[in-house]
Amino acid sequence: MSKPSDQPSLRWDDNAIVTLDQRALPHERRFLHLSTVDDVVTAITTLAVRGAPSIGLAGALGVALSAYAHCSQGSTGDGHEAVRADAHRLAAARPTAVNLAWAVDRALARLDDGPDAVLAEATAMIDEDLAVNRQMVAHAVQAVRDRCPQRSLRLLTHCNTGRLATAAVGTALGTILALADAGRVTEVLVDETRPLLQGARLTAWELAEAGVPHRVCVDSAAAAAMSQGLVDCVLVGADRITARGDVANKIGTYALAIAAAHHGIPFIVVAPESSWDRSLADGRDIVIEERADDEVTFYGGTRTTPLGTRAYNPAFDVTPASLISAIVSEHGVHHASEVSA
Ligand code: MRU
Repeated sequence: MSKPSDQPSLRWDDNAIVTLDQRALPHERRFLHLSTVDDVVTAITTLAVRGAPSIGLAGALGVALSAYAHCSQGSTGDGHEAVRADAHRLAAARPTAVNLAWAVDRALARLDDGPDAVLAEATAMIDEDLAVNRQMVAHAVQAVRDRCPQRSLRLLTHCNTGRLATAAVGTALGTILALADAGRVTEVLVDETRPLLQGARLTAWELAEAGVPHRVCVDSAAAAAMSQGLVDCVLVGADRITARGDVANKIGTYALAIAAAHHGIPFIVVAPESSWDRSLADGRDIVIEERADDEVTFYGGTRTTPLGTRAYNPAFDVTPASLISAIVSEHGVHHASEVSA
């Protein structure tokens, strides 16, 4: 039987995308059947499907849904225009992760060959993501070994970068699971990841499923944990990486990197080649998604602020390359800084 982390997070079945509704976890294992482009856009914007590689794969399958809706095999003209408009909507559903536009464009490039070809490209990308993640995890395990020779590791991670965020296996969390499989993990500290709790809800769920010892901490406890010697290495994912290695990732990542640098703790980013955007040099040019105030002003359905209070709610921040010990992809270590290694 395959390990839970190897199970695909989304698949094509009976003209629909089938995926776990990540909003319902950890309480409920609810599957969504997304059969229209509107369904896919809504799933991406509401974070039912989330994580840079996963939203890319959902977007690519969304192009296939559109192609079947608007084009018969070999047709051109208005049908193609409609698919292009849908592809544009899918790619714009979330602005920060470059994987989304990359995957949508890749599926769209097969449109002239008909809907079956678009679908074949999208499903090939699911298989590819799985293979890429396995290669990346092998390199990242080595990068951790090089920087943390001690046998028993205390790791810290932020957000969710596991199988839910990818086709399967995961990136940073995949690396943590592989280290745990090798008997090298004493404990994982999981940032709860305010405001939508991807760490508390999803990463803790994946770690529990795999039987890896972990504790959840509030995001603001991470620096204190480092100062108390509870963290040997920080591992995170990425939504967009610029040519010089600045990394956009879930809000709170930058603060973690500053704290890790202060304490001399390796800070490793694990992300596929498809997360690189070499058209940008400087991370300050990355578009950061701003989300609704009520994600911050409510907690568990209850307002926590005075009526009318506004929120500052960026979904991501940018960590400069100088604070990152290593960026690891399926090709190996792309960037290594001496700052904290
Ligand atoms: O808003 P989210 O939950 O989609 O943010 C996800 C992250 O920031 C992840 O760290 C990133 O997409 C990498 S997932 C392998």
